[in-house]
Amino acid sequence: MLVLGLETTCDETAAAIVRRCGEGPGEILSNVVRGQVEEHAAYGGVVPEIAARAHVEALDGVVAKALKDAGVAVTDLDGVAAAAGPGLVGGVIVGLTAGKAYALVAQKPFVGVNHLEAHALTARLTDGVAFPYLLLLASGGHTQLLAVLGVGRYVRLGSTIDDALGEAFDKIAKMLGLGYPGGPEVEKRARSGDPARFAFPRPMQGRAEPNFSLSGLKTAVRIEAERIAPISEADVDDLCASFQAAAVDVVADRTRAAQRIFAERYGRPTALVAAGGVAANGPIRQALTRLASGSGTRLVAPPLPLCGDNGAMIAWAGAERLALGLTDGLDFAPRPRWPL
Ligand code: KG4
Ligand code: ZN
Repeated sequence: MLVLGLETTCDETAAAIVRRCGEGPGEILSNVVRGQVEEHAAYGGVVPEIAARAHVEALDGVVAKALKDAGVAVTDLDGVAAAAGPGLVGGVIVGLTAGKAYALVAQKPFVGVNHLEAHALTARLTDGVAFPYLLLLASGGHTQLLAVLGVGRYVRLGSTIDDALGEAFDKIAKMLGLGYPGGPEVEKRARSGDPARFAFPRPMQGRAEPNFSLSGLKTAVRIEAERIAPISEADVDDLCASFQAAAVDVVADRTRAAQRIFAERYGRPTALVAAGGVAANGPIRQALTRLASGSGTRLVAPPLPLCGDNGAMIAWAGAERLALGLTDGLDFAPRPRWPL
């Protein structure tokens, strides 16, 4: 089954062709991602109107390249999937409309994909992970711990009550004058810093319900940065390292709480899966690897290019739904808010 997937919910214009042959991992025939970092860099974050225009300009070329790289014609496809949300509505409309048009031209089924579901199923594309598994989904807009029981069967065990994890990295980067997106910058600076210099809080630590709260941690970093101002380059390194150490502890502790609930309700998970842009963070991956092996399972985290937003995950989620006969009409509406 050959599926074209389109992703335009935030600041990546992406298209990919993925093949699914029964259970087991899928095959990525092409995966084209055009980022918009330059367009948004001056503003320290994604500007919705600029993002939508950039998607309009880039999408046709990105899709053409995805088809060419895969050596596939539109008529060879078995279906077309587009992310229909959650995300910035302007961008979603661009990808959704284009996806429907390609489906119409190919005379093949259309699938409107939930962007979060696509992150959630990526471990099946890359590693063929079987259900049920425990998922940490952490991106710029979402931070959730989910029991993934099947395609379309997601039970939320916990989530953030304020900022998303990626958002906390981004806000701290902005506060310290680092680039956007902040996660990779903070991780880089943390490598040369002292994680023990500042004792930042670990919000929610020890609580039974696996929720997150990150705004207090972010505020603690800001207060400390203001207290020691003017800050040197070494101070920035130390602030990043101390913040990241707290974030890693929080992730490990909250995931441990979710593991307990998962075990009580569903037994042993086939894997601990990490997804979303924050799953690219080295120390977070290491902590989750330890946590997984300590509880008799393994960590499955997508390779770095598949952690952030991409078309392959949308194509794969579309293929998984198509395999179950789940298709959508061409009247499928954008869903800027679409919880998993
Ligand atoms: O999944 P994603 O690409 O887009 C959303 O759906 O939000 O995630 C982007 C988020 C950003 O907040 C970015 O700062 C964060 O993931 N991120 C990281 C790292 N790489 C990306 N956070 C921490 N460490 C990283 N290495
Ligand atoms: Zn995402």
